[in-house]
Amino acid sequence: MRIDIITIFPEQFESVFKYSILKRAQQKNLVQIVIHNLRDYSTDKHKKVDDYPFGGGAGMVMMIEPIYNCIQHLQSQNRYDEVIFLTPDGELFEQKTANYLSTLNNIILLCGHYKGVDERVREHLITKEISIGDYVLSGGEIAAMVVTDAVVRLIPGVLGDETSALSDSFQDNLLAPPVYTRPAVFNGWEVPAILRSGNAQEIENWRHEQSIKRTKERRPELLKK
Ligand code: ADE
Repeated sequence: MRIDIITIFPEQFESVFKYSILKRAQQKNLVQIVIHNLRDYSTDKHKKVDDYPFGGGAGMVMMIEPIYNCIQHLQSQNRYDEVIFLTPDGELFEQKTANYLSTLNNIILLCGHYKGVDERVREHLITKEISIGDYVLSGGEIAAMVVTDAVVRLIPGVLGDETSALSDSFQDNLLAPPVYTRPAVFNGWEVPAILRSGNAQEIENWRHEQSIKRTKERRPELLKK
């Protein structure tokens, strides 16, 4: 899979994709993450990418031309399955969206800023709009990182244990059960005996019950899905 990210803050991504699972996924060539500086696609001599809104009002608007140039350039080299704009008024990002995106070959993530982007970008260049939650971030960059992380870990071969992404919280609209490790007793606090029983079937049943209990207590609306 290839993920192209268009941003005015390319440096913001530098450390994020250099650790842990995202780092290994790239080293194993399971994903290629390419960051593009939107300013490189501005034809303006000051590399301007935003301008005042028509009709007046506060805040600047990201111009269509550099975004168009960048997306055109990428599309002349690769075929993209989705061109995604990160925005608080997009479709809410959920595990099912991550599952879907992880099945694609190439995607573009466009990070917005200021008061938004020229609406013609959304009308003509974008195929999907994603919000990571009902709050406003100062830009789409952190949202693009969240989406990239959630998607890349689902690509087959990225996680060592093939089953572990499937047992994540939300995969079956259930939260994950509690987990424990050594020591069996710490400060008088004990690990549930069943997890030390060695009975695989009983452990699986217990985990499933715990998942349901936890989901009922914390996120009952998930059970209705
Ligand atoms: N940009 C600003 N806020 C955002 C959000 N909640 N989700 C995605 N992109 C955003």
